[in-house]
Amino acid sequence: SPLTQDELKALVGQAALQYVVPGGIVGVGTGSTVNKFIDALAGMKNEISGAVSSSVASTERLKALGIAVFDANEVESLAVYIDGADEIDRQGYMVKGGGAALTREKIVAALASRFVCIVDESKLVPTLGRFPLPVEVIPMAVQHITRRFAALGGVARLRLKDGQPLVTDNGQQILDVTGLSIKDPSAFESDVNQWPGVVTVGVFAHQKASVCLVGTAQGMVKTF
Ligand code: A5P
Repeated sequence: SPLTQDELKALVGQAALQYVVPGGIVGVGTGSTVNKFIDALAGMKNEISGAVSSSVASTERLKALGIAVFDANEVESLAVYIDGADEIDRQGYMVKGGGAALTREKIVAALASRFVCIVDESKLVPTLGRFPLPVEVIPMAVQHITRRFAALGGVARLRLKDGQPLVTDNGQQILDVTGLSIKDPSAFESDVNQWPGVVTVGVFAHQKASVCLVGTAQGMVKTF
């Protein structure tokens, strides 16, 4: 019988271990797929020095499993960063931030020589824009940025948690933007990054995936 989505996440989480460099510090992303990777990483915790984490949630999970967590300022570079995505195309361009951790994810990804993206096949898209695009913003710029997305044909909605604006690990807010079709991810990322009040746009083009591990319902891991 075909594997469940949860089993696919475990499959790619396990497969990512082969990209972990023994003796090194590994960059760790955020989300339910990465949680499977963290669980698998616990099995080789004596072979690594530790991790740099992209969220409070991942830091807590790593520490609970006995893996040392370093501050990003303590490392100059990382051999590898392992993270999921909300969508990924064939070029390795991604939309991320469904878990609200996009800013720290982009920072840790920038430290790494290699970005290994782990996804189940539901995340593969021909063109970015199906998943509502997360954008972390400074609260006082919310309305201005919402109007700028409207001019591009997008509808931006403030992300809520328990009826209140969600507050990120960095003390900012998230807009989720629907109605965009992102044909040139690199130009789009550069453009939106210039808008005053934008902290981070959830398009990862300048920090795109170098390797993508895709779990398929047949229980295979495809690599591209
Ligand atoms: C977190 O902010 C996101 O970028 C995650 O990488 C993304 O949402 C994937 O999460 P799942 O593995 O839970 O789908």
